[in-house]
Amino acid sequence: MISAREALSIGSKKLNQKGIINSLFESKLLIKDILQVSDEDLISSSEIILSESQYEKFNSFINRRKNSEPIAYILNRREFWKDSFYVNKSTLIPRPDTETVVEMVLSLIPDKAKKLKFVDLGTGSGCLIISILNEYKYSEGIGIDISKEAIKVAKKNRNNVSNKQRLDFKLADFSSFETKEFDVVVSNPPYVNKNEIYNMQFDVTKHEPYEAIFADEEGLIWYKKIIQNLNKNHKCGQKVLFEIGLGQVEPVSNMLKNNDFRIIKIKDDFSGIPRCIAAEKI
Ligand SMILES: C[S@@+](CC[C@H](N)C(=O)[O-])C[C@H]1O[C@@H](n2cnc3c(N)ncnc32)[C@H](O)[C@@H]1O
Repeated sequence: MISAREALSIGSKKLNQKGIINSLFESKLLIKDILQVSDEDLISSSEIILSESQYEKFNSFINRRKNSEPIAYILNRREFWKDSFYVNKSTLIPRPDTETVVEMVLSLIPDKAKKLKFVDLGTGSGCLIISILNEYKYSEGIGIDISKEAIKVAKKNRNNVSNKQRLDFKLADFSSFETKEFDVVVSNPPYVNKNEIYNMQFDVTKHEPYEAIFADEEGLIWYKKIIQNLNKNHKCGQKVLFEIGLGQVEPVSNMLKNNDFRIIKIKDDFSGIPRCIAAEKI
């Protein structure tokens, strides 16, 4: 028989031994999920005795975390912008960096009552297109992905959208998808240089889908393919917003300019790294 407080202390020690810095915080997240309690309730219920199955579940969560599995996959959710999204191993875990793209859309299109058509290329969990459509209640959109499993996850998250007929998810390749009908294109394609794999945390490299993160040609190949395809599907005035990685602002700007796009704005993330680039088709 073990209390929530004792379980927390054991779990936190185990994670600490594995070098997990926020071990107590993470153990709390796991136990709160098992007990289905808030922060406040956890304080008042810390002497509560865990049932055998609750303790087993807690131990299995701790073991998964010890094996560097991200908390978001263990709990099957991650907060992004204003919602909580279902996630599993088929999708990238939504990152705060990607919220820069939502902020940029809002700054470029201040009139939220506009009726626009958005497309999200490489939608993953659907977090980006869903957050955008929840800001623009009269607009509609499509999220596409090459991964069948990711599309299943995105469809599950469709419940987060107010008036969900406005949103569809499709299995498609963003190098050839027909984009002419869309006013705004957003995309966070895989953009990490494959050589970077050795410098990255196990949490990412061991558990998140490789195809969602890494890209050839120093991480730039998908920008090239998407931009060429947008150029082929030429639509004057169409806006495109990309999330970009460290050192990619110049090459991606050049690709856009060489394909008759005008750069409108570049926005940094919280660490001061240019994270989102917006352009308009001339
Ligand atoms: C970096 S993740 C972004 C996921 C999500 N938009 C987000 O910001 O959290 C890139 C996504 O692009 C998808 N993808 C990779 N290659 C693709 C292709 N050729 N066509 C369509 N989607 C692709 C991956 O499956 C992955 O879900």
